[in-house]
Amino acid sequence: MRKFIIGNWKMNGLSCDLDEIVTISAVAQLHTSVDSALCVPATLIERAVKAVGAFPIGGQDCHMHKSGAHTGCVSGDMLSDAGAVLTIIGHSERRAAQQEQDSDIRAKAEAAQAAGLKAILCVGETLEEREAGKALEIVLGQVAHSLPDAAAGGWLSVAYEPVWAIGTGRVAEPADVAEMHAAIRASLVARFGAEGEKIRILYGGSMNGDNAAILLAVPNVDGGLIGGASLTAAKFQPILAAAQAKGE
Ligand code: PGA
Repeated sequence: MRKFIIGNWKMNGLSCDLDEIVTISAVAQLHTSVDSALCVPATLIERAVKAVGAFPIGGQDCHMHKSGAHTGCVSGDMLSDAGAVLTIIGHSERRAAQQEQDSDIRAKAEAAQAAGLKAILCVGETLEEREAGKALEIVLGQVAHSLPDAAAGGWLSVAYEPVWAIGTGRVAEPADVAEMHAAIRASLVARFGAEGEKIRILYGGSMNGDNAAILLAVPNVDGGLIGGASLTAAKFQPILAAAQAKGE
C-alpha cells in the first residue's frame, strides 16, 4: 500500500503563509511513491488550491448537514466548492473541545463522502485511558461507532492518534503502535472483509523527521497525520523522504 502523509495545519496560517504552502506542495510532489496532502484552515483553502495546482488541499472538519442554520460551521459542499478534496474528521482536539461524539463523527464522515471528499477519521485514547489499560477498548469502540458502514472503497483512512502524543513531543512506542494498528486492522477486516485490508491506517502524534522511518516501518502503519512538523517544508520533507523510502 502507498504511504499517505498528510499535514494538519490546525489553527495556523495566514495569507503570508501561502508561499510556504506552495513550497510544501512542490517538495511533496517530488516524492512520487507517496500520496500526500495538506489540511489548512478553511480561510486558506481556496487560495491554497489556486496556488498549488494539482496538489491535494483539505479541510479539518466538515459539518454533518449540507447547509442551514449552523453558525460558524463549514459543510462538505462548501469545502468541495472551495477546491478541497479531503477533510479531517473527528480530530481529538474537536472530540474534546467541541464535545464531538462518535455518532457526530460518523454523520460527518457520511457528509464528507456525499460531498465527494476523502476523509481522514481520527481515533485515539487519552493518557488516563491508556494508564487504566483501556486503550484498545476505547479506540476499537471509536472505530466501531464512528466509521460509517460505507467506509470501504478507498475514500476513508483511519488515523490513530494517541491524545497524549499530540503536540507533546512524546511518541508512542513502536510496539504499542503495532499492537493498536493490528487491532484496528483486525476490526476493519471483521467488518468489511477483504476491503478492510485496503483501508489505510495512519499514525499521528509528534511524528517528525527523526522518528518517521521507525514509525512508518511498523506493520499496518500506512502513513502519518502530521501537525507541528507539517508547518514548514523543511520539517515536512524528511517525513516524506522516509515514506518514499518505504515505497521504493
Ligand atoms: P502533532 O499533531 O504532529 O503536532 O503531534 C498531530 C495531529 O494532531 O494531527
